[in-house]
Amino acid sequence: MPESRCLQGIWSSPWIFIFAASGSAVGLGNIWKFPYLIGENGGGAFLLIYCACLLLVGLPILMAEVALGRTVRSNPIDTINDLSERRVIHRFWVVVPWIAGLTGFLILTFYSVIAGWSIGYFERAISGDFVNISQADAASMFDRLLASPGEMLLWNSIFVGLVVLTVGQSVTRGLAALVRILLPVLIVVMLILAGFSLEEGEALEAIHFLFRWSWQDITFGVVLSAIGHALFSLSVGMGAMFAYGAYMSKRMSIARACSAVVAIDLIVSVLACLVIFPLAFAFHIDLDSGPSLAFVSLPIIFGSLPAGQLIGGFFFLLLVIAALTSAISMLELFVAWLHEKFYIARFKAALLLGGAIWFVGIAVLLSFNHWDRKVLFGLNFFELLDQLTSLIMLPLGAILLSVLVAWFIPRTVLRNEMITRQVSHFKIWYGVLKYISIPVLIVITVAGWIGV
Ligand code: TRP
Repeated sequence: MPESRCLQGIWSSPWIFIFAASGSAVGLGNIWKFPYLIGENGGGAFLLIYCACLLLVGLPILMAEVALGRTVRSNPIDTINDLSERRVIHRFWVVVPWIAGLTGFLILTFYSVIAGWSIGYFERAISGDFVNISQADAASMFDRLLASPGEMLLWNSIFVGLVVLTVGQSVTRGLAALVRILLPVLIVVMLILAGFSLEEGEALEAIHFLFRWSWQDITFGVVLSAIGHALFSLSVGMGAMFAYGAYMSKRMSIARACSAVVAIDLIVSVLACLVIFPLAFAFHIDLDSGPSLAFVSLPIIFGSLPAGQLIGGFFFLLLVIAALTSAISMLELFVAWLHEKFYIARFKAALLLGGAIWFVGIAVLLSFNHWDRKVLFGLNFFELLDQLTSLIMLPLGAILLSVLVAWFIPRTVLRNEMITRQVSHFKIWYGVLKYISIPVLIVITVAGWIGV
């Protein structure tokens, strides 16, 4: 499809794809989830496996998803319908984009609750609640937030409202400009915080924990959660990057753009650990305390910083914006489809979906207090959604989308797509995708499901 016919517009410069895709990749997954996954999974072992997963599984599949989007210049649902009508692929494939869209929808129901916590913490930071806070007070502050569904609902509603307002606009306009400023500022602020934390906290212990590893630490569970998180962190497996690829200019090499996104994503994740771990060690915060880790240790850092009120407020504001630029990409698939297929205005489509997400979000936030009951497999509703999406639905979506690219899209079409500038690089990518990424992902995911 010629670029001018793409309904949602094209990124105004080739570089903007990198910013928009990084905006999607960098989010709560890096700053909130990654540190606690490292804490739970034994430090360096997880980091090492995670890097391997990024390179061997995440990057090739990210490139496949982007390439598919750019080749067809449409949304995943119409693309697959079209291919199956032309009998290029079996009718079964029609369910794939629906699974993908549903995955984004489900992730967003709990993602916006956590983003809501960040808004709550922004408010607490600027009102000076963190000043000289002790470890016990920081922990009970977080417990109090979890115990008040009313407050969580307020923040959640604000966040979902922001998502609807932004995704209701065309993503090719405002989003990129926002991310362009946000990302460098976020990295600089995190560098400063990491410097402070390393100086004030237990730097040696933290570094040792982050980079030490031994064979015993590498268990199957570690590998499974590393793969799941690599997909989550790169926003791969549900068509978000497919949609962004559809707006990408043909002049840009997909390999370069995607490598930059992976690098930025990894840098932010490691920085988050360097901010959190030294102080967590110094204050004896349990590293495997799960989702509360960032929300208990960050206030302590800000509370002991000279201009902590301001820096803390600024940091949580950045975190909310980072979450927003990620959240947008989860809704883009359905919004673009409703817009292209039924000519529903983007804003109306966003409102419709946002309403449904807000509604399911109520059940999520109640699962932290009144409804803290095991729903299935010994998990509460929040944990269930989290695990269902990152360990089952995202890998499944990633497998199906990349199988489609590797086995069904003619090699010559892909070759012409300027996935890489050099033919030899193209061959490496194609080989790795077909014979490493897809088989590894299938074996690990299926073995994880049957509980090997
Ligand atoms: N990558 C984002 C993060 O790390 C989350 C995210 C945005 C996502 N879009 C996605 C995850 C699509 C899976 C699929 O916070």
